[in-house]
Amino acid sequence: MMREIKTMSTMYWQDNRLYLLDQRYLPSKTEYRSCESCDQIVDSIKVMSVRGAPAIGIAAAYGMAVAAREALIKGCNKVEMLTALEEAAVKLKRARPTAVNLFWAVQRMEKLLLKLKETSPQQIFESLLKEAKNLHKEDIDNNRMIGLNGAELVPSKASVLTHCNAGALATGGYGTALGVVRAAVEQGKDVHVFVDETRPLLQGARITAFELFEDDISVTLVTDSSAGHLMSRNKVDLIVVGADRIAANGDTANKIGTYTLAVLAAYHKIPFYVAAPVSTIDISVETGEGIIIEERCGSEVTHLNGHSIAPEGITASNPAFDITTAKLITAIITERGVVCKPDRVKLEKLI
Ligand code: MRU
Repeated sequence: MMREIKTMSTMYWQDNRLYLLDQRYLPSKTEYRSCESCDQIVDSIKVMSVRGAPAIGIAAAYGMAVAAREALIKGCNKVEMLTALEEAAVKLKRARPTAVNLFWAVQRMEKLLLKLKETSPQQIFESLLKEAKNLHKEDIDNNRMIGLNGAELVPSKASVLTHCNAGALATGGYGTALGVVRAAVEQGKDVHVFVDETRPLLQGARITAFELFEDDISVTLVTDSSAGHLMSRNKVDLIVVGADRIAANGDTANKIGTYTLAVLAAYHKIPFYVAAPVSTIDISVETGEGIIIEERCGSEVTHLNGHSIAPEGITASNPAFDITTAKLITAIITERGVVCKPDRVKLEKLI
């Protein structure tokens, strides 16, 4: 290994509460939001203080532990605690609809709860917290593996385009798409990254560019609409993005604008990679058509930092994600290996 890269924490547990890096204020402020209630965690997911599919899953797992602690403080007996946890699970799952990691993580906590019915409220809290910490650590380990698997696809000198933020701050740490970049850089490869700013919430400009800049990785910020031009001038060797949900056939939901990049990549014969943990694959959904696309408030499009940038009263559409069909995806990079030309048979074998 030529170089080891360390990044700041998306979240951490301390003094019986969850601290979430409030990503709404990046890069100007690095402020952690202290969450002592499950409702605060639900709100943090909704308003996107914490965002990125794996990160919201991990936050929700901690949310279940926080809900158990709230019940303990209130002096609830076991039945009351279990009822409170059922309610917490429902609220957490309703926070955002597209990223499957949220449902996957809460369901994992619910499965554990079924095994804890004979234990005390204190033990329930401790076990849920331990599980959330395990899930957090596993995510970082998975991302390291995704990075190693993906780095093999990166030439020794490469120009990479990425969209939105699938970095350390979208995960427990290290990142998926940016994990691939980090691993390639750590192996001594000469990597330059073009980062789409990613309208409307600018996760590319505010978060990905910030992460890469902090890590001293060569980066150029570009407008979303520059991508085709860059590809037409042979400036992009490969594209790597994250995923919010991968259907059984490989169709992938990711940040709005991803599909456009994949179509452009196919036209220009540039490899298009999706990097994601196996927990992002939702085998219960046959194709991308079955994935719910979150529609966010139009004011995210009409306003920038609280300032109006469009005519007052204009109607704005704001789908947060789109679907990239499997046939546009060169390979899906997971912690268990790289799946070229993804389809149901290959993805089923992975999980
Ligand atoms: O709306 P966001 O910021 O939560 O969207 C994030 C993305 O689309 C990421 O690319 C995806 O969640 C993968 S993160 C490893």
